[in-house]
Amino acid sequence: MIPQETVQQVLQAADVVDVIGDFVSLKKRGANMIACCPFHNEKTPSFYVSPSKQIYKCFGCGKGGDTLRFIMDLEGLSYPDAIKWLAKKYGIEIIEKEFTDAELVAQNERESLYIVHEYARDFFYKQLNESEEGQSIGLSYFKERGFSKQIIEQFELGYAPDSYDALTQAALKSGYTLQTLEKAGLTIIREGKSPIDRFRGRVVFPIHNVAGKPVAFGARVLKVDPKSPKYLNSPETEIYHKSNLVYGIFQAKVAMRRDDVCYLVEGYTDVTSLHQAGVDNVVASSGTSLTKEQIQLIRRFSSNITILYDGDAAGIRASLRGTSLILEEGMNVRVVLFPDGEDPDSYVRKVGSEDFQKYIQDNQQDFIRFKTEISLKDVGEDPIKKAGLITELVETITLIPDPIKRAVFYQETAHLLQIDEQILLNEGNKILRKKVADRNRSVGNQVSQPDFASQKVADLLIETEKSNITLKAPIQLQEEIFIRDLVIYGNEVLEKDPETGTEISLASYILDEITGINFETPILGTIMGICREMFTENQQIDTRKLISHENQEIQQLVVNWLSPRYELSEKWVQYEIFVPKYVDRLDELAYRNILRIKKEKFESEMRMLYEELGHIEGEDEQDQLLERMSKLKKIIMKLADELGSVI
Ligand code: CTP
Ligand code: MN
Repeated sequence: MIPQETVQQVLQAADVVDVIGDFVSLKKRGANMIACCPFHNEKTPSFYVSPSKQIYKCFGCGKGGDTLRFIMDLEGLSYPDAIKWLAKKYGIEIIEKEFTDAELVAQNERESLYIVHEYARDFFYKQLNESEEGQSIGLSYFKERGFSKQIIEQFELGYAPDSYDALTQAALKSGYTLQTLEKAGLTIIREGKSPIDRFRGRVVFPIHNVAGKPVAFGARVLKVDPKSPKYLNSPETEIYHKSNLVYGIFQAKVAMRRDDVCYLVEGYTDVTSLHQAGVDNVVASSGTSLTKEQIQLIRRFSSNITILYDGDAAGIRASLRGTSLILEEGMNVRVVLFPDGEDPDSYVRKVGSEDFQKYIQDNQQDFIRFKTEISLKDVGEDPIKKAGLITELVETITLIPDPIKRAVFYQETAHLLQIDEQILLNEGNKILRKKVADRNRSVGNQVSQPDFASQKVADLLIETEKSNITLKAPIQLQEEIFIRDLVIYGNEVLEKDPETGTEISLASYILDEITGINFETPILGTIMGICREMFTENQQIDTRKLISHENQEIQQLVVNWLSPRYELSEKWVQYEIFVPKYVDRLDELAYRNILRIKKEKFESEMRMLYEELGHIEGEDEQDQLLERMSKLKKIIMKLADELGSVI
């Protein structure tokens, strides 16, 4: 562990402008600096750095934090690694002396594994480029396959000589212990025999972690021979967990962020080949099916994944397996299959970089189209099979955490299968309700408040707008959605008087309707007050005033609302998938929200009166109370009625 004093020292030395300035070009704008956001693609700057507050915030994509968070997010580093990164920049020495002996041993072990991997990488690289055997066998193999010198350098490819123990002997001579070599998976120790190199007579692909350190190797035979596996890979070690890493992430991460999409391929050579053709946002799952951890790793850089696989049966199966997990992680997934017998590597070689890119653009399908198209072949006109397919598709759609995205896919499925969208929605909501019920059951009464008031509930609430289930969300959440709409969509015009030409905006409607209501969450009331003031002054809601509000709580809330959480990325629009316009339903949604909030208020008043009823004795007083309650009841019924009829 890094001593706390050192952490503080690093944090104090690190200047937000200085650090961020290493990555983007900052321009002065008043008290702040601005730049085009390094976390998302943009042409006009919405990324702000505040030297006085030592924070950054992107008003486009919502990312924000302090210097440390910036390094963690941008470089994809863990907390301690980000501290180390900063320490290095500012020349601060990190002495990790607070280790217990056991920790020290573990730490040193990891450290030595990293170092021996670096040694092995250098060894293999030198063998490939400098030894006679390496050049005549390894290098000529790469040349034959068309690997450029630059790619060999960039991916640090190497050659393991065809000898029993060349690496082991060299490493021992350089002072590495047999124990370390074995732990690293580079040397295999056999009972009663001399130690032997794991990789022999193969070309070597180092597998780098996010920070670019080699943590494992994959080694390919030169001539495919049924007696030995095509690839040999390092075993799992202290520093290499196959299921947590994707091949090529270090080389691809900047491009993935720049293009806001990650291409996922199967093999090492697909990655290197595409890079060579100038397609550099590509990583490989390395032959295994994708894991949750791998998807989360990719998500640090982009939430769009396009799977590029073989068009054969195995490729299709692998893609289908991949999509569900990706959707569940809230990411967007598209699939491109290559003509039978071609993989991305062979295909890009065949058609060249430009046509390859065009092929991807022309052939990428969202998972619904993909699944539907491949299933429809054997479904045909069989109604039972068709029903099965519908259920399957709906099940997949319910995996998507974002309700607006779900809505898009319901529409698309309805269109593709020529069925009524409402049927799909009902089916989907059944599944969702069951999921919520199951979850609540499994956590019993321990549903903690923050979890309950989570995004999931917000999602369900929006989902409710599209269907007729009434799932009650906490009043606080309804309020938040309500105020969020006021802030974001306040200036949208709901209607225009055809005679006078007066426009009624959402803000004027909401502000009129909601006078005199106290909010459960005070800060939301404060925000509404600010909006009211702005509106009275110039009939407009100026969102920017709230974003730069000195009250950090307000600022955070508003910035969060503006983050793309509730919106579809432009990509979806670009691919011409129909997007239901939230904005087009604002009047209806606002109206429902007002009714809901009022109803909730009256219901809680009702509960209070009921409580009171148990405590008062006098008959007259009781009568009075009962009368008030019956009036309230009528209002509530009316509101419920109205709510029911605007579905
Ligand atoms: N793989 C493996 N062990 C094998 C075969 C494959 O680990 N015996 C993994 C490798 O990560 C490989 C990926 O699965 O990159 C895809 O396999 P394949 O398409 O056969 O390999 P390529 O890398 O495409 O190799 P090449 O083009 O040289 O045949
Ligand atoms: Mn291949």
